[in-house]
Amino acid sequence: MVLPLAPNAIMARMAQVVLSNVTKAFGDVVVVRDVSLEIADGEFLVLVGPSGCGKSTCLRMIAGLEEITSGSIAIGPRVVNDVPPQDRDIAMVFQNYALYPHMSVYDNLAFGLRLKREPTGKVFPRTRRVYSEPAIRERVDRAARMLGLSEYLQRKPRQLSGGQRQRVALGRAIVREPQVFLMDEPLSNLDAKLRVQTRAELILLHEQLRDAGKSNTMVYVTHDQVEAMTMGDRIAVMKDGLLQQCDTPLNLYRGPANRFVAEFIGSPQMNVFGPLDVVSANGSLQLRRDDLTITLPAEKAARLAGFNGTQVLFGIRPEDIAAPDTSRVAADATNTVPVKVQVREPMGSTVQLQLEAPGGFVVTSVLDADSSAWHGAAFDAVLDLSKCHAFDPASEVALF
Ligand SMILES: Nc1ncnc2c1ncn2[C@@H]1O[C@H](COP(=O)(O)OP(=O)(O)O)[C@@H](O)[C@H]1O
Ligand SMILES: [Mg+2]
Repeated sequence: MVLPLAPNAIMARMAQVVLSNVTKAFGDVVVVRDVSLEIADGEFLVLVGPSGCGKSTCLRMIAGLEEITSGSIAIGPRVVNDVPPQDRDIAMVFQNYALYPHMSVYDNLAFGLRLKREPTGKVFPRTRRVYSEPAIRERVDRAARMLGLSEYLQRKPRQLSGGQRQRVALGRAIVREPQVFLMDEPLSNLDAKLRVQTRAELILLHEQLRDAGKSNTMVYVTHDQVEAMTMGDRIAVMKDGLLQQCDTPLNLYRGPANRFVAEFIGSPQMNVFGPLDVVSANGSLQLRRDDLTITLPAEKAARLAGFNGTQVLFGIRPEDIAAPDTSRVAADATNTVPVKVQVREPMGSTVQLQLEAPGGFVVTSVLDADSSAWHGAAFDAVLDLSKCHAFDPASEVALF
């Protein structure tokens, strides 16, 4: 019987990355703590979190540039803990793309392939080039076409714009046809407009690689939650070396696991305030503080069973605080709150408001700019309580 695929063909198709209980300490300082994460073959996974939370360290451990203190990392079917970086079949793209200034774009792209050698002979450590010059040209041309660089192959890096240079840096990774792409804030050096454009190009590139039958698993590090939301199939949120939550962008947005994720994902950020007292009144559950009263809908109240007499933090996104003339949610006495307008920031189609609610709480709301409510000094804000959140005040874990 003949196997339909050679073993290495099977391996080449399985580019998942699995981190199991990975911890990294520098001396006594633990910077990545017990992280477990399964990145599927072909997935675009974004690792996001504030500066210093351990994102780059995670990426560098996957690359083999940093030793793992405990736990294990597998790429495809193989545990790579003891595999040197050059044998892990990964390609890394950094913020500082450091092209060779004296080489043409073509030579910059070809450089890594020309360097790649396989050892021959047992007695003398002689090596042989892996790729012939025609094979290199084919790969460089294909990558250049994908990245729109075909016209620039003979130019030197200084004759390119910042965005084009960053694409050459991506090209250097693509020509290697690695199992896994590792990217550490690759767009940070670009200006805002170019960053948005290159973001879209990267999403497209991820699809093109898949359509071309190439491995396209990507682990992408950024501190920018907008990049994470727009690019990731899934987003892994980190804080202080700990993985907080890993899910699709919409699941993170709608169902954050804790206060940190709730406030980190989304812009302007979720309003989280309190503590509010949990009070049972007239057969329903209310959250109260001074003259602020929020009556919870039944499905939310059910999640706070057993919290009667305690306190919670309350969370609601700016777009879920509306005016009577902009709300898609019916306004009634149980979900309106009288607010005073403190600051108005018209953005064109929307207006961002800073509002003072009862209890002295200051909240942000984003309204349709067509609304007339925000021109006045006060209005009755309509809360979409089907989308509100509550957090345990001590642990800050989400209760709903
Ligand atoms: N080689 C090192 N020696 C000691 N501490 C380090 C080293 N590299 C990183 N760190 C520390 O580890 C923490 C996480 O760093 P890093 O992974 O670069 O964070 P991020 O990429 O999320 O900004 C930081 O506090 C950083 O100072
Ligand atoms: Mg970093």
